[in-house]
Amino acid sequence: MEKTITEKIKLLEDKYAQMGQDINSYLDGLLLSNYLTYWDYVEVDTLLTLQKPKTDYPDELIFIMYHQITELYFKLALHELEQIAYNGKLISASGKDEGWKDQLDPVYFAERVTRVNRYFEALTKSFEIMINGMEKEQFLRYRMALLPASGFQSAQYRMIEISCTDFINLVDKDVRDNYKGKNAPINELFKNIYWNKGATELATGKKTLTLNQFEKKYSKRFIALANEYSNRNIWQKYLSLPKEAQVDKRVINALKVLDINVNINWPLVHYKSAVRYLQQNEGDVAATGGTNWQKYLPPRFQKRVFYPELWTAEELDNWGKGWVETNVFGKVES
Ligand code: HEM
Repeated sequence: MEKTITEKIKLLEDKYAQMGQDINSYLDGLLLSNYLTYWDYVEVDTLLTLQKPKTDYPDELIFIMYHQITELYFKLALHELEQIAYNGKLISASGKDEGWKDQLDPVYFAERVTRVNRYFEALTKSFEIMINGMEKEQFLRYRMALLPASGFQSAQYRMIEISCTDFINLVDKDVRDNYKGKNAPINELFKNIYWNKGATELATGKKTLTLNQFEKKYSKRFIALANEYSNRNIWQKYLSLPKEAQVDKRVINALKVLDINVNINWPLVHYKSAVRYLQQNEGDVAATGGTNWQKYLPPRFQKRVFYPELWTAEELDNWGKGWVETNVFGKVES
């Protein structure tokens, strides 16, 4: 039953007394304080000051804002992944954060992974805004004012990967097997992280400036996160579930969909944008860092898989194939 005002005041009195506070002063504060507004709560004014194009091309605003939208979704994904890693928050009856739970509930696990899936599905669907929502002529001009910055430098994207899987699965596929079962330390594996290949100059084989700057800012943090998550990434949390939950279709399905969303569907729509803007008849427009994006970006070349144990050998062989031909090139590969 709804509590009376007097009962509520008594509860408040107890709450403040526990902290040695006098409820009277707080009631004065309540009388004096303003009503909360939407614009203050959502920080609308601040949010709308964060778009600062470098050129006068109107479409650059779309480019900045869509990246910002993506980073916000990435933040939502990381918010869920962290909670899964630590078994979920324990909130007391009075609404207080009481730390992390001792045990991971399988239903909670599947639901939270599904939330991350929803975020990635929203991003995959909305990527049309990038692919068809800007004039190519404008894009090719204003991008020159943005060098050597690249979405490649999105730290949250890499943090999502680190949170989702055993670090070995993020090692370049050509050397991955050399490290399997060897228990190599994270900083050793990090030297062969898959993304180095996407930021090596075609002409010289040297690391691009884009990569050097990225490493300078984030490498230490990535290695620390990978160590922190070595026994609490999503795969390890799955393995910590009771055996009957591990064979539960809903749990397995949530993980497989996550694998497809992050490692095939989003990379493919993203790749489609590179094809749309950077592919030209007389040769490709160089990628930001002078790399061969056509050989790097497609998932069938990267073969990044979070949960190889959940797929058949055939499915792994065909990773990322099919979709490209029908959706990017409009034909089926013979
Ligand atoms: C017109 C739109 C876009 C084009 C043409 C494009 C193009 C590219 C290219 C060519 C690369 C390869 C690395 C490089 O040379 O810079 C790349 C990497 C990347 N971009 Fe984009 N991009 C676009 C939009 C976005 C958006 C909206 C995001 C969202 C954050 C994003 C995130 C990334 C990420 C995470 C990588 C690294 C992928 C990997 O390592 O597998 N890109 N992009």
